[in-house]
Amino acid sequence: MKRTILIDCDPGIDDAIAIMMALAAPELEVVGITTVGGNVGAEATTRNALALATLAGRRVPVARGRDAALVAETKRAESVHGLDGLGGARLPAPAYAEEKAPAWEFIRDMAARYPGQLEIAAIGPLSNIAMALSAYPETRSRIKGIHLMGGSIAYGNATPAAEFNILADPHAAAAVFQSGVPITMLGLDVTNRASLSARGLEDLRTVGGRVLTPCCSMLDHYLAAYRTFGRDSLALHDPLVIAWLLDPALVTLEPYYVAVETDGQYATGKTVVDIHSVAKRPPNALVGVELDPDGFVALMTRLLRSYDAPGAPGPLQGLE
Ligand code: RIB
Ligand code: CA
Repeated sequence: MKRTILIDCDPGIDDAIAIMMALAAPELEVVGITTVGGNVGAEATTRNALALATLAGRRVPVARGRDAALVAETKRAESVHGLDGLGGARLPAPAYAEEKAPAWEFIRDMAARYPGQLEIAAIGPLSNIAMALSAYPETRSRIKGIHLMGGSIAYGNATPAAEFNILADPHAAAAVFQSGVPITMLGLDVTNRASLSARGLEDLRTVGGRVLTPCCSMLDHYLAAYRTFGRDSLALHDPLVIAWLLDPALVTLEPYYVAVETDGQYATGKTVVDIHSVAKRPPNALVGVELDPDGFVALMTRLLRSYDAPGAPGPLQGLE
């Protein structure tokens, strides 16, 4: 039985790898991609999502969402992902247009079409999902799970306390964690270790392929950014969500109560993970605490290489 997946994202280089992995996996039916402002603005993340689906040869509906956070001031990460969001990699022009419905209506409609079956891979700020859950409360019981890249038990990457996706829209994140929808949280504690070394990137480039090669071009830009942080490897945050969906054994999860700081002096956007149950609140998320990094890289490589398998679809042609 295929799993019914909607990807909410802000491509973004690691989002792009995640999307290409998901579209290559026969176990997943990706019924839609919703885009949000995050790494770059929503116009660019939407164009990038359409170009990536075109490259994959899959006409997956793409619905544009919020450019700005619900309340917080806008945050971007062009220094990591490039002004275009994909490190300047050359992708085919989008072969089809975005949906007319905005992301939050598209999420509502997919939950209604696949009640109890729809799973959301949330790999950007949570603005669209919070809007859908708030504007259409009937959606909450229809979503089987929200599997998000975001937050951390320990430290942040956008501030000492906060991870980027949560910091970019802390009020949306707080609403999602309080929504009652089953949540899987893969935070920096595991995604920072879903890493590819510079040598590993060269190995991928040597393998090459019609999708792997442009992905390596994006990762060149991503690695250069990580090197400015003093790290000679890159963290594949978002791809770990897709890898875990396909092989749950890759990540060890623990049930914890998670709250989100929305109004701190130093810790706004911090996911406050109660690992010792001090607050005596029932867990509201399964949180990643350990991973198999080698298994992750092997699965990512296999999926990205599968686009060159005999009979695999080529890129979409023209406006389809
Ligand atoms: O902190 C990492 C997250 O922020 C990833 O989703 C990356 O794409 C950026 O959005
Ligand atoms: Ca992302």
